[in-house]
Amino acid sequence: MSARLAAAATAAAALAAATLALAPGTASAASNAGASADAATLQRGAYLAQAGDCAACHTVPHGKPFAGGLPMNTPLGRIYTTNITPDPDTGIGGYSEADFARALREGVAKDGHNLYPAMPYPSYAKVRDDDVAALYAYFMHGVEPVRQANRESDIKWPMNMRWPLKIWNVLFLKAGVYEDKPGKDAAWNRGAYLVQGLGHCGSCHTPRGIGFNEQASDESGSAFLTGALLDGWFASNLTGEHNTGLGRWSQADLAQFLKTGANQHASAFGAMTSVINNSTQALNDADIGAIAAYLKSLPAAGGNGAAAYAYDPKATKVSLARPANDAGARVYTAYCLHCHGADGRGFAPFFAPLAGNPNVLAKEPASLINVTLNGTGDLVIQGIPAAYPMPAYRGQLSDQQVADVLSFVRAGWNNGAGAVGAADVAKLRAMTEPVQQAQGTQ
Ligand code: HEC
Ligand code: HEC
Ligand code: HEC
Repeated sequence: MSARLAAAATAAAALAAATLALAPGTASAASNAGASADAATLQRGAYLAQAGDCAACHTVPHGKPFAGGLPMNTPLGRIYTTNITPDPDTGIGGYSEADFARALREGVAKDGHNLYPAMPYPSYAKVRDDDVAALYAYFMHGVEPVRQANRESDIKWPMNMRWPLKIWNVLFLKAGVYEDKPGKDAAWNRGAYLVQGLGHCGSCHTPRGIGFNEQASDESGSAFLTGALLDGWFASNLTGEHNTGLGRWSQADLAQFLKTGANQHASAFGAMTSVINNSTQALNDADIGAIAAYLKSLPAAGGNGAAAYAYDPKATKVSLARPANDAGARVYTAYCLHCHGADGRGFAPFFAPLAGNPNVLAKEPASLINVTLNGTGDLVIQGIPAAYPMPAYRGQLSDQQVADVLSFVRAGWNNGAGAVGAADVAKLRAMTEPVQQAQGTQ
């Protein structure tokens, strides 16, 4: 490959790092049950569409289901998701099942143009034929057709050329549906299939390589699901690491988190909220159990470095008793203590604990800064919005105060995580400026 080709491929590949510009709303299930597919197949297709979280990207908040138009940030500019309702002119009504399978698993649209890997086809490549068929039946006959033209990307020529994506696919797209791994039980294989395939968990949780490709697509790669930074959030380490990963979570803890967005260890926020709102809460107990079993089988990436976390409130108690001497303790006492407690244990699962929470212990503090500046408030379980969202402090706390309080929290209760700098807070504050965020919704 020539240097120019390589450069073009890398530029196009930058688009693989696309992330949602907005937290999408919950899609309501539309149905105009067509005569040509039986009810059971349509129901299975609708369920698989939830497992694949198609609505998170193809439905905009308050928009018609699957009509597209959601802006996604890429390093080269904004792109917009497309209309995947069965409207023949503006949607995918003209797609045959083979066209649909090719879009889903190979990232090629009906007219032959390559899709940006912001559409997670590198994961959907693993989806089996019978599941593709049920999804196709659902999108053709279970989804209301909506006439809504697709929106051009904001990427300017020549960066908007799509042919370099063909090179990217040659380099990084692994063809072939999921094959059951011998020696593993049915639940493990079902979990692996859902996590690696429709669930596309790795598209956020696996770190990206030089081509913005996911560094591993299954548990045979050491980087698989070890955590990654995306658009100002750190998608947690999902391996068995005992401090920053899921090592201290039971299978039941994990199932509770995926169903309800919170458990005794942590609660969901940022990009994970839309996954829980649109996808995992709808999965049946067998599938949630399978996902939990599979994730719990992943060994600690790189081994467990530090000793396992052990709760110790003594030193923190002293700081909180004399907050005058400690800037972080002062902010914590004034703004955080009444919900998260002097003991750092919160009132889980309602108020997240900060002591021992893997998100607090993680090396990368982006999520903590983001949550403190911008709060949470969009988790919706069974139609009911979270009763106690985390308030936003961007208007009340300076960059230095946020850095101080998070450094205090990260050191507190024996958490042992590094300090947070005011410059990092300033960066995230600018990046998540509400004015900037809102532009994409017009
Ligand atoms: C993380 C976001 C994301 C998710 C999740 C997602 N898509 Fe997409 N999809 C996109 C984007 C972005 C495009 C347009 C890409 C482009 O224009 O190059 C797209 C394009 C498509 C297309 C091509 C349509 C066309 O002709 O323009 C199809 C078909 C499609 N998606 C189906 C699905 C299905 C089915 C699911 C769920 C199983 C799904 N998508 C989930 C982001 C997503
Ligand atoms: C759109 C990006 C995205 C996708 C896709 C995604 N996640 Fe997440 N996930 C995140 C982010 C960001 C966090 C950190 C915030 C939090 O803890 O909720 C997270 C956190 C989690 C946590 C909590 C870990 C902890 O230590 O607190 C679990 C468990 C989890 N994800 C499981 C999954 C599974 C299973 C899938 C696939 C079915 C998945 N995620 C798909 C972004 C994503
Ligand atoms: C009104 C109660 C309340 C106050 C005050 C509050 N929080 Fe929270 N906080 C919450 C709730 C509830 C969550 C879980 C929210 C969710 O995930 O939807 C949370 C989550 C968090 C998280 C993410 C942990 C996780 O895994 O979910 C961090 C970090 C955090 N808060 C820090 C702070 C800091 C720092 C302050 C003070 C500046 C503060 N909170 C003040 C209620 C509060």
